[in-house]
Amino acid sequence: MDLSIEGTLFHKGGFEHGCLGIKDGKIHAIKKTLKAEQHIDVGHQLILPAGIDLHVHFRDPGFPHKEDFSTGSLAAAFGGISCVMDMPNTQPPTTSISSIQEKVHSAQTRSYVDFGIYAAITNQNIGRIATLSPLCSGFKIYLGSSTQATVLSPQHLRAAFFESQRSQKLILIHAEDEPCLKRHHAVERNLVDHLRCRPSACEETALHDVLRNAQGLSPPIHICHLSSCEGVEVLRHRPSHISVGVTPHHLLFDVNTLTVEHTWYKVNPPIRSSFDREALWSAAQHHIIDVLESDHAPHTREEKQVEFDHAPSGVPGVETMYPLFLALVKKERLPLGTLLSLLCERPAQLLHLPKGTLEVGNDADIIVVDMNHTENITAERLHSKCGWTPFEGYPAIFPSLVFIRGEKLIQDHQMLMKPGYGTCVGV
Ligand code: DOR
Ligand code: ZN
Repeated sequence: MDLSIEGTLFHKGGFEHGCLGIKDGKIHAIKKTLKAEQHIDVGHQLILPAGIDLHVHFRDPGFPHKEDFSTGSLAAAFGGISCVMDMPNTQPPTTSISSIQEKVHSAQTRSYVDFGIYAAITNQNIGRIATLSPLCSGFKIYLGSSTQATVLSPQHLRAAFFESQRSQKLILIHAEDEPCLKRHHAVERNLVDHLRCRPSACEETALHDVLRNAQGLSPPIHICHLSSCEGVEVLRHRPSHISVGVTPHHLLFDVNTLTVEHTWYKVNPPIRSSFDREALWSAAQHHIIDVLESDHAPHTREEKQVEFDHAPSGVPGVETMYPLFLALVKKERLPLGTLLSLLCERPAQLLHLPKGTLEVGNDADIIVVDMNHTENITAERLHSKCGWTPFEGYPAIFPSLVFIRGEKLIQDHQMLMKPGYGTCVGV
């Protein structure tokens, strides 16, 4: 055994004091006591699986002033995330064999954490899904316009589902209906206008479209960032091959309490009412929602500090997601088991990754947390290039140690590994 970590483990749905034995990057044994070349006793701290963020925008290639794979993955690691899945709205967009291969190659030299790459399905490449499928970790479909996104016409949805059924690669969907968005288009001066321009009816229409087109097929579909009461109702009795994600910002913010002129919170789909927020909480607590995803979408302070109508949509969040929700577990807003299912276990299942639970045979992706050590989030302590956070001042519990495939990446607020440690998964 290379390493054993002793402490309070979250294992098979409960806590027990014991040792986690690691060999060749995998969890090799879980026992009361274990002998290994190196032993780490974490005392009263918890040993938990690292998180998997199946929705990040690391802007690499194309927008290195906002983020790149090295800064984005550094932020992920400090936030207890061992694996990120990157979205295709980069420049060039990830829509072809060469753009996928170049992104994978570049991320391989820069990423601190494990990663996967999604390709976008567009009206132009719809016929090439089978060719792209073995090269990427999944696909993204935008049914409505968003930052740098290429929208797929709904008449192609069924073909996309048919192809992904064959490959079993996850198809992630941005569910806002484009004709509906166009109908509501107007000048926006604040978050309430932004919400009026992207009403929940657009989410509802897109979700019905997805359900209709998936009928009789069983492709693995993931609805990204669910944002409305109506959306929860549409998906409440969905078939089991359709999973659903929610973001920290849709759970933690609502337009009733935000300063509405603030461009920081301009994001797609929009932050909605306190009713929507409560419906999402309830859905997350009652297992109607499968996954907590950050939708880490960094834009610089300068880009955000412009007139509301011209500000880009998107908020950063990969580093703060797990720590924010650990603090909410401490406040008994949700059980730890539910959080670990949302952040670790379900994303691993959906992506077929040997990660997400402390089980023998899985990758030794582990975080150690001191639940008595709550800190308030400040932008200065974070590692994204964008330099700000919408969660400034929020209580959070950051990991004290982070391991990926058995290697210690983070200790004493220091990154111990070099960029390029991360490896491509899900292909
Ligand atoms: O607000 C958003 N920002 N929504 C998206 O769908 C894209 C993202 C971005 O890439 O900035
Ligand atoms: Zn996104």
